[in-house]
Amino acid sequence: MTQITPHGGKLVNRIVAEEQQQVLKEKAKTLPVIEIDKRSISDLDLIAIGGFSPLTGFMNEQDYVSVVEQMRLADGTVWSLPITLSVTESKRAELKTGQSAALVGKEDGVLYGILDVESIFEADQEKEAQQVYKTTDLEHPGVAKMMSYSAVYVGGPIHVLERPKPERFEEYYFDPSETRRLFAEKGWKSVVGFQTRNPVHRAHEYIQKSAMEIVDALFLNPLVGETKSDDVPANVRMKSYLALLDNYYPQDRVFLGVFPAAMRYAGPREAIFHAMVRKNYGCTHFIVGRDHAGVGDYYGTYEAQEIFSHFTSEELGITPLFFEHSFFCKKCGNMASSKTCPHSKEDHLHLSGTKVRAMLRDGICPPPEFSRPEVATILIEGMRETVPSES
Ligand code: ADX
Repeated sequence: MTQITPHGGKLVNRIVAEEQQQVLKEKAKTLPVIEIDKRSISDLDLIAIGGFSPLTGFMNEQDYVSVVEQMRLADGTVWSLPITLSVTESKRAELKTGQSAALVGKEDGVLYGILDVESIFEADQEKEAQQVYKTTDLEHPGVAKMMSYSAVYVGGPIHVLERPKPERFEEYYFDPSETRRLFAEKGWKSVVGFQTRNPVHRAHEYIQKSAMEIVDALFLNPLVGETKSDDVPANVRMKSYLALLDNYYPQDRVFLGVFPAAMRYAGPREAIFHAMVRKNYGCTHFIVGRDHAGVGDYYGTYEAQEIFSHFTSEELGITPLFFEHSFFCKKCGNMASSKTCPHSKEDHLHLSGTKVRAMLRDGICPPPEFSRPEVATILIEGMRETVPSES
């Protein structure tokens, strides 16, 4: 069965073959060491398994500048977020282009791989913030994270020797080559990908199921990498997804697998990135609702949808499915959006994120029209175990 072509033409694999492992491990002992944190380990792994195809490594200066300025790699391929590796000023002196460096985990000392240093450059982080996040405000979690890194970036292809071990829910980690194989085995010709960093509430369920009416299956692909401290922790969310799928979804038309990337909160640009990556996992369609990957008031409600019009459908490859803000309408007696509901705002059930968090913290289930009781119960238990800070 023919499947959707990975972004850029073919699925990248930068995992070193068994027979070359020893040679490269020996070589690594002679190389300067770049310490990499959790974020970079996650990027490294996603590059290695082809999630970030066509990237074969951390971005060199040419690709970086082109992505920041034009949302394209230097060769013109659509790519909206910089995937970069930052090193300290002192480390810079140890590195030379044309040579390699060992990539070692900052916290665990594990040799994760080797980087062929193609480019060492000073990034204009103010410009990066403005272009990518549309703000230089340090209150923006993505900007704050980026600015916490040195502006010295090193780019080049990678060779991966070790993969990060999932702490939990290992059985829901699938590489793009595996999801592609599994989707084909199930005979699914069209699969819609759903990104989320939240529990699945009724509005999410509504847009997923609306999409499921026109495709073969749903790939529920929650992001489980770094998120900001007041987002619901991934392990609690995973329990809630499982309860929801067990009770309300057709088992043979849904596939749950995690997306081990860090959240950038880059709104529109991240929506493009999320779509390209889901194409690599084998999705033919991708859901973009209101405020996709947004935070605070930095982006317009539908900006993450509008940005898709910068590119042709051939360039994107994957079909975005756009959804209006969805809600439960008391007069309609069902889920709806402004496209389907004639009633006024007063008839719509609206609960802010802050309000919902407060209810859950107090052990109160939000109304079933907002969140399935099975989901709310798990979130209440999760809140008791981890008390996230308010932000
Ligand atoms: S995100 O940061 O991962 O985008 P979230 O998990 O809240 O956040 O959203 C997942 C997807 O559902 C996104 O495409 C988002 O636009 C969409 N979405 C969330 N809530 C609604 C809603 N009430 N109506 C329509 N779309 C929504």
